[in-house]
Amino acid sequence: MTPEIIDGFLAAIPHPAVLVDQTERFIAVNAEACALLGGDVKGRHFATILRQPSVATAVENCLRDRAPRKARHLSNDGAQDTTFTVNLRYVPQVGAVNGGAVLICFEDITEREQAAQMRRDFVANVSHELRTPLTALIGFIETLRGPARDDSAARDRFLEIMEGEASRMNRLVGDLLSLNRVESEERVRPKAQVDLASHLSSTLKTLSPVAKAGGVDLELETPEICPLITGDPDQLQQVFTNLVENAIKYGGDRVRVALSFSDRDPAVRAPAARVQVIDNGPGIDPVHLPRLTERFYRADSHRSREKGGTGLGLAIVKHIINRHRGRLRVESELGRGATFTVILPR
Ligand SMILES: Nc1ncnc2c1ncn2[C@@H]1O[C@H](COP(=O)(O)OP(=O)(O)OP(=O)(O)O)[C@@H](O)[C@H]1O
Ligand SMILES: [Mg+2]
Repeated sequence: MTPEIIDGFLAAIPHPAVLVDQTERFIAVNAEACALLGGDVKGRHFATILRQPSVATAVENCLRDRAPRKARHLSNDGAQDTTFTVNLRYVPQVGAVNGGAVLICFEDITEREQAAQMRRDFVANVSHELRTPLTALIGFIETLRGPARDDSAARDRFLEIMEGEASRMNRLVGDLLSLNRVESEERVRPKAQVDLASHLSSTLKTLSPVAKAGGVDLELETPEICPLITGDPDQLQQVFTNLVENAIKYGGDRVRVALSFSDRDPAVRAPAARVQVIDNGPGIDPVHLPRLTERFYRADSHRSREKGGTGLGLAIVKHIINRHRGRLRVESELGRGATFTVILPR
């Protein structure tokens, strides 16, 4: 086979691929492999490029005994760590003195690894979140059976705490189910016509007892004319409830909700509605902002747990807004409150 034909075959492989012959040098390298291995490595000894012991050993062994092999190649593309499965196969009658060569193909499995890691993290987080209230419940049951058996005052107090812990677990399971539902519907476009002004006012009405109990003033600003938008009314209600609830829980003594419309919103490059939830609380350190909508991520975990938060609220918000092809913007500085902006295309 001529080198041109070999190059043609390698160029047709849609993954990084190289050929190493009995001289232990690269005799052909496709463009994807050049990008992965850092430049044109044709003619170089393989061990100067493939330095990871598992890969180098696999190449040596495959050249020697011609049996197929697999190895893992770890790299970094500048933005993140990447993982490749390396497949080695012997190709007869090519290379120096037609002594055969080893075809090395790299398969990028980074995304698969990341998904697996996310699944493990998620299970670990859920277990951890459930275990804490469960441990408390078991502890109180033991106390009620033993030392506090005949102490009716203690019993009432403990039962109250147990009720709190049990409802925390209940909320967590409810949020998980809700997240699941929202995620499974994410590709289905909502169809209903929604009047945001009336939804916002009913959200604030529902939350007004909570606000009152926390000494928080709620304010709603809506324009005179409110065009309808296409959306899922229940889900949008959930978005506003989560955001306003957060502002009441973590904000200061005043929460302002402002609705506005524009014919061309720069964020979505289309006519859109904007809902802003603005509080005057301690704010959020900007280091937390990029990760705030991750499941179970809390900026101030002590405060969130103390307030019965599960850390899933903003993850649900994010998914609902994605389904509406909208955007969520969070602006905050420590000591200056936080502003959550929902932009929904009309
Ligand atoms: N207005 C706000 N001011 C300050 N911190 C906020 C504000 N809104 C959210 N946060 C921070 O973001 C974190 C994530 O919010 P999220 O709504 O996802 O979870 P949560 O409120 O803890 O739990 P849940 O909403 O599930 O009950 C909170 O724990 C809190 O630390
Ligand atoms: Mg919340």
